Amino acid sequence: MKHQVIVVGGGLAGLRAAVESAMLGADTAVLSLLYPVRSHSGAAQGGVNAALANMPECKDDTPAKHAYDTVKGSDFLADQDCAEILTSDAPVRIYELEHWGVPFSRTPEGRIAQRPFGGAGYPRTCYASDKTGLYILHTLNEQAVKHGIKVYNEWAVLSLARDGAMNHGLVAMNLQTGEIASFGADAVIIATGGAGRIFRRTSNAMQSTGYTLGMAYRAGVPLKDMEFVQFHPTTIIGTNILMTEGARGEGGYLVNNQGERFMSKYAPKAMELAPRDIVSRSIQIEINEGHGFPDGGGCVHLDLRHLGREKILERLPGIRDLAISFLGIDCIEKPVPIQPGQHFIMGGIDTDKDGATILPGVFAAGECASVSVHGANRLGGNSLLECVVMGQRAGAAAGNFVKAKSSAIQDAVLNDAVKKTSADVDALLKSDGKERLVTLRDTMAQTMTDNIGIFREEKPMADALATMRELRARFRDIGVDAKNRKFNLDLLRTIELGGMLDAAETIAAGALARKESRGAHSRLDFKTRDDANWMKHTLAHFTPDGARLEYESVVQTKWQPEERKY
Ligand code: FUM
Repeated sequence: MKHQVIVVGGGLAGLRAAVESAMLGADTAVLSLLYPVRSHSGAAQGGVNAALANMPECKDDTPAKHAYDTVKGSDFLADQDCAEILTSDAPVRIYELEHWGVPFSRTPEGRIAQRPFGGAGYPRTCYASDKTGLYILHTLNEQAVKHGIKVYNEWAVLSLARDGAMNHGLVAMNLQTGEIASFGADAVIIATGGAGRIFRRTSNAMQSTGYTLGMAYRAGVPLKDMEFVQFHPTTIIGTNILMTEGARGEGGYLVNNQGERFMSKYAPKAMELAPRDIVSRSIQIEINEGHGFPDGGGCVHLDLRHLGREKILERLPGIRDLAISFLGIDCIEKPVPIQPGQHFIMGGIDTDKDGATILPGVFAAGECASVSVHGANRLGGNSLLECVVMGQRAGAAAGNFVKAKSSAIQDAVLNDAVKKTSADVDALLKSDGKERLVTLRDTMAQTMTDNIGIFREEKPMADALATMRELRARFRDIGVDAKNRKFNLDLLRTIELGGMLDAAETIAAGALARKESRGAHSRLDFKTRDDANWMKHTLAHFTPDGARLEYESVVQTKWQPEERKY
């Protein structure tokens, strides 16, 4: 199997990249762990940001104001040139999606409707009720079909096929048969989404393991800013399924056990629409100080009752269904118990603004990548935007790369890669090692949630780093119980765990090293931002002994760091 461009991942970023490279005439395929329309992008609810200035309240909104909000939201760690690209490309990409058929909700005049979201100066989040990601995903899938893009469904990428500096494709496993095969490609785009399952409490789907971050890292690509992990303020207790920020955008309240809208203490102007790092911390403080409710290990209430039945049914039908299904609570009648849950990782595979990594021919886009447009804290609605803007740019860059490329894909390299990877997988399958997947994975997720959560400090983070290193050592003696080839999820989850432990270790190492509080990285022992020493990106490089950290300057174009007040 050979293609000019292979995109790994069939979510929003992957499909958008594939469509772009196909439109440039490159023979493009998508290789996906799932059928693309089941990708986690489909769980994105609240919307996608663009300064369209469609609402009466946002007539003077501009991409530059959107860029400023993004940079301020990022606690001044985003590269400002990248934030400007993100926001200036935004209107083009949104109108393109509209023309491709995304059924956006509308203003009375028929324009794309926009709702307020956290940290934004204007209502600029375009939405399709509260199922925005799902609609965009299906629309992009239609475009992929239209452009004749070949999709390899239910294949798990295992390794890159490299020869020195040049990449020749990848090796992957067909989940249905267990076959391990090489895929020749002049360019590979990694677009595999988030890594939420490294944590215990996450809004992310089972497939959002982030194991491909470990694959890229071991192949020599640094992981950037991994310590910045976003906790979404409002996830359903117990399951941590998302209750969209759009609920607060539509006017929902956060209430403690005294019946107070406690955000007045933490963000008196923005209230419930402060950026996520601030709202999540505020909720956690309320719970820690005894002002929460005991359910689900501690929670506060999301109260939507005053919005009324009609508005809830029109704008928020999806989360109403979720709360009914998972808690038996109808938000038209009762408040919903919520707690912060891991939702997004600002860090990821280090790329430039066109998705290129340091390995020629290897690109990355979407949540698995770090460009960096989100810095230390992403604004709600900028994730779907990153997928379509950076997906398009990575697809264009890969399409142009393969046109200009003079060397051919080397079969010998692919054959060697498939032999080596097959031998590794065979060894895992045959192993009767004494360690068990469930024990190692549970220890990882619980430790990361307990020790590297919303509030952080030296000792728990040092313990977490030591635990991740110990788990990596124990992983060498892991045994796989199921020995069959077909749909062997024991084997797949074990392979995933190897990559997850690598990624988890970089989160712990980066967090422990960063001696300041910035955005989502909030240290009880270093409570303030330290621009003099820490306004820089972390780059984690793989070594057999653990992550080696380097630092890189933040690109500033227009905005000096300032205190974030909301
Ligand atoms: O709350 C939400 O709807 C999530 C949006 C996002 O993560 O951008």
